[in-house]
Amino acid sequence: MRISVIGCGYLGATHAACMAELGFEVVGVEIDPVKRAGLAAGKVPFFEPGLQDLLAEHVASGRLRFTDSAQEAAEFADVHFVCVGTPQVAEGLGADVSQVDGAIELLAPHLTRPAVVVGKSTVPVGTAPRLAARLAELAPAGADAELVWNPEFLREGFAVADTLRPDRLVLGGATPHAEELLREVYAAALADGTPLLLTDYATAELVKSAANAFLATKISFINAIAEVCEVVGADVVDLADALGHDDRIGRKFLNAGIGFGGGCLPKDIRAFVHRAGELGVEDAVSFLRQVDDINQRRREHVVAIATAMLDGSVSGKRVGVWGAAFKPDSDDVRDSPALWIAGQLHLRGADVRVYDPEAGKTAALMFPTLTYAANPIDAATDADLLLHLTEWKEFRALDPVAVGDVVTRKQVLDGRNLLDFDAWRAAGWTVRGLGRR
Ligand code: UDX
Repeated sequence: MRISVIGCGYLGATHAACMAELGFEVVGVEIDPVKRAGLAAGKVPFFEPGLQDLLAEHVASGRLRFTDSAQEAAEFADVHFVCVGTPQVAEGLGADVSQVDGAIELLAPHLTRPAVVVGKSTVPVGTAPRLAARLAELAPAGADAELVWNPEFLREGFAVADTLRPDRLVLGGATPHAEELLREVYAAALADGTPLLLTDYATAELVKSAANAFLATKISFINAIAEVCEVVGADVVDLADALGHDDRIGRKFLNAGIGFGGGCLPKDIRAFVHRAGELGVEDAVSFLRQVDDINQRRREHVVAIATAMLDGSVSGKRVGVWGAAFKPDSDDVRDSPALWIAGQLHLRGADVRVYDPEAGKTAALMFPTLTYAANPIDAATDADLLLHLTEWKEFRALDPVAVGDVVTRKQVLDGRNLLDFDAWRAAGWTVRGLGRR
């Protein structure tokens, strides 16, 4: 079986490399010439642990190659994964699915032999049937070109592992033939016990929206409780540990902090509310607006605490910031709360020095007027306040005594509640967390 992957951004590049790792011959279709040339040279244009080696290995072996030609992909592969982006149209609006439509329009006319087209992009519910109809209309192979909806749940930082060994596989609208082919594609994961759920298009599309909405809700829930903890002197970490012992709740995604960011959760909950509005059921999911509001408020809250720690004004003060990426093990700064906070403090007159192990370059592209440090100690040097905003392991490994030697004032705000508060306090620091006693 041969595979094509249409759209080689984050999802597509990972999927293509992982399919090659599973032993399939893969062609990736990427229309951006710069991205395509890099991938063809075996270079991943973003940071994702383990992916660089995988991609380079399979490009070198010839099992994975890249093209700009949908026709070449159509002639080559039996299964085509659509992995293009669905960005937010504008503030408060839904997802732009033009690239998904474009992928079908480009591929379908060349499908002269039986093909299964697999949608992986995150789309508003109702997109798949429209694409299926368009595919049937445009494909010369007609009924032999089928569409399956197979949402992707990978997390940045774990993208390779999540692709090779997903929690579950969801197939929407698969005929027995398409199911058989996809069972072959995912044979390794299935042999490991990954559950395969067969359902209709709408349910498969909604699983993704619902999963992200649930995760976002869980984070905003604990962040809302953190706000309450702060006013009564309770501790949100102890509280989350206690909640987490209840199997029905679980401890994961109950880490209070500066809130969620990235290219998925914020965009996807907004797109979901927007789509629900189009479907006349906005009231059913309007709570997600509050989930979003609670999340935005976290960032402002951190700026307010930082200002208070700097005696009411940040102007002219030096602030060291550890972290710019929206999460560790990623160089993604899309909707990053860390970068937002750093940017706000800068705009209010602080001298902000940011260090991130991987995201410095992407952050500098998005926010060029900030100062970027070469290492965490540089970022902390002469600081009146240190902010720990992205929980890279290397920050937790730093000795608070050594860091204390370079700052002007030993005060740290831990936006992720993960530093060893006792050790930092023992080294003479004033430590503040979020929702901590
Ligand atoms: C998310 C979903 O997890 C994934 O299934 C989907 O395919 C894409 O969107 P990702 O954006 O990579 O993945 O990151 P995730 O690990 O979910 O974290 C999202 C944000 O939530 C990060 O900013 C993270 O810092 C924050 N977060 C996560 C918290 O603030 N607290 C938590 O307890 C967990």
